[in-house]
Amino acid sequence: MASSSFHCLLFCSSLFHFFVVPSLAKTASFRPKALVLPSILVVGTFGVDCEKDYISSTYKPARCNSAQCSLSNSQPGCNNTCALSPGNTITRTSTSGDLGQDTVSLQSTDGSNPGRLVSVPNLLFTCGPTFLLEGLASGVKGMAGLGRDKIGLPSQFASAFSLPRKFAICLSSSSKSSGVVIFGDMPYTLFPNIKVSKSLTFTPLIINPVSTAGAYFQGEPSVGYFINVKSIKVYGKVVALNTSLLAIDNEGYGGTNISTVNPYTVLETSIYNAVVNAFVKEVAYKTPRVKAVAPFGTCFSSKNIGVTRVGHSVPSIDLVLQSESVYWTMFGANSMVYVSNDVLCLGFADGGERPRTSIVIGGNLPGIMIVYQ
Ligand SMILES: *[C@@H]1O[C@H](CO)[C@@H](O)[C@H](O)[C@H]1NC(C)=O
Ligand SMILES: *[C@@H]1O[C@H](CO)[C@@H](O)[C@H](O)[C@H]1NC(C)=O
Ligand SMILES: *[C@@H]1O[C@H](CO)[C@@H](O)[C@H](O)[C@H]1NC(C)=O
Repeated sequence: MASSSFHCLLFCSSLFHFFVVPSLAKTASFRPKALVLPSILVVGTFGVDCEKDYISSTYKPARCNSAQCSLSNSQPGCNNTCALSPGNTITRTSTSGDLGQDTVSLQSTDGSNPGRLVSVPNLLFTCGPTFLLEGLASGVKGMAGLGRDKIGLPSQFASAFSLPRKFAICLSSSSKSSGVVIFGDMPYTLFPNIKVSKSLTFTPLIINPVSTAGAYFQGEPSVGYFINVKSIKVYGKVVALNTSLLAIDNEGYGGTNISTVNPYTVLETSIYNAVVNAFVKEVAYKTPRVKAVAPFGTCFSSKNIGVTRVGHSVPSIDLVLQSESVYWTMFGANSMVYVSNDVLCLGFADGGERPRTSIVIGGNLPGIMIVYQ
């Protein structure tokens, strides 16, 4: 994997309200620069509830031995239609479902304004049963996979419109506004407060050679997005931790993963303790802690913490990447989570001992853009 890289945007406003309109749109010869999709998406296979209210004259099942089936690495033992395992990554349930294709419409953008609707014919996805939606927000009909496999949405959209192979995610920390995912070139004019050259940081994506996707996929690499975090600093000081946990071992354990499945960042126990202790040491001499609210272990009264341009005034947390001069900083705006009107917690949770991935950077990440192959 040569030059795949990942960019990080420090500030990301969530002022956008875009819609995916489930009707057909005429594309003619129009080629969009970028596509936008609202809300939160996860790594995994794009799965849609096909049991309830799914009536479509354009739906086509993917027949055994078709190109679609091989593209998706479907399960062996095909009977008429090839099967995949759609899953709900929030509740960690998965089942078997048929691979199919349909036309999907979504909004394009020219960089400054929401543009016309474009339709993607033959988008591959897995049809799942309604029960897979349990645990998701009401009204949700499926989960969109953003993984780095060929049937991930980024790859399918890029192929459909010859878009640059990149996408950006901006998640909202408030339930009042939705996040946004932009496929293709980042329309920087949508983010007027970003000084592009100053705030983009690049780091290579790395491959975890071992998939988590169950027995069928043994020998496959993970479709997750891994980055090489070499150390962690709190308030500019290196936190002492077992650095071998930061590397991916040959069984696929360890390392740092970016995922929107968790709403906050999850750290292996010893890393969690080290980071939290360093953080508390910097904050607590002037600010008493209050009773913790699970899953967080470190909470403060928000009345005692000031607010700055980059969120609450707490020590910054740097994930140091490929070199000392490349780091990803979480300021208060991203590291702190309100659990009630007046209680603010450090948005990190304890992932237990020997989790599969040592650091899972969750939904409280600053906005990011991923450039893949
Ligand atoms: C194939 O699918 C049909 C219809 O769903 C079913 O009746 C049949 O038993 C299946 N055959 C195998 C070998 O699973
Ligand atoms: C990456 O993160 C996700 C989401 O938390 C997790 O389920 C997955 O197992 C992680 N690791 C790999 C190897 O994909
Ligand atoms: C550091 O982590 C590795 C990987 O989990 C483990 O094998 C090793 O024993 C740990 N070292 C210490 C000093 O805890």
